[in-house]
Amino acid sequence: MNKSPNVYVQRCDDREGFYRSAVVTVSGKISASLAERGSCALALSGGNTPRRLFELLAEVKDIVWDDVHLFWVDERCVPPDHADSNFNMVHEALLSKISIPGENVHRMVVEDDSPSEAAASYEVQLKEFFGGELPVFDLALLGIGADGHTASLFPGDTALGERERWVVAVDGKHGIPAVPRVTLTFPVLNNARCAIFLVAGGDKKQVVDEILSDKDAAANKYPAALIRPQGGLIWFVVG
Ligand code: 6PG
Repeated sequence: MNKSPNVYVQRCDDREGFYRSAVVTVSGKISASLAERGSCALALSGGNTPRRLFELLAEVKDIVWDDVHLFWVDERCVPPDHADSNFNMVHEALLSKISIPGENVHRMVVEDDSPSEAAASYEVQLKEFFGGELPVFDLALLGIGADGHTASLFPGDTALGERERWVVAVDGKHGIPAVPRVTLTFPVLNNARCAIFLVAGGDKKQVVDEILSDKDAAANKYPAALIRPQGGLIWFVVG
């Protein structure tokens, strides 16, 4: 693993090695949080890349899920059983295979109200859980798009400049699928104890190389370059 201050980069040769390395790190972070603080709050990304990680995480025997709380970094505004739902992906790959109290699963409810109402409701939910303080996730698990977006923070969107709200709605017109979305904002993501980017696919190579060679220059182009969590950032990358 290459190391520079607070940023670790692990490049893997094959997909299964990538996922197996990532699951060791993620399960280690969960165990460390449980040992040190008695609980663990995870913020999960959607997309396709983390699915295999979640499948492997479900197989890790020594995680006691009773004190693990799951949140989402973003959600597409579709029903929770829709193939494009980020909750649905995590449900299929992880939740359906582990024993975790229902009240520990804090999904973004996006099917009942407008996206901005759903964002405001999720912020209330976060305030209740974190006692009104800016959330401190023990780990934020993130993905990146070939355009440099992360969570549902897309290049050029006004959401990138949000400093007050913790959760906002975006139109998602440049996303795949191009549906409205609800996303955590930078103040919350960057207050995490740790963030992990899981990056698989050659279409993201250029963006990742630019971010890792000069994150300040890349920050003008790619939202993912603005992820600078308080406690450290880990990149798992496979071609
Ligand atoms: C989403 C995301 C998004 C995702 C990236 C990478 O809801 O779409 O959370 O930020 O992580 O687009 O997605 P893939 O893993 O599918 O490439």
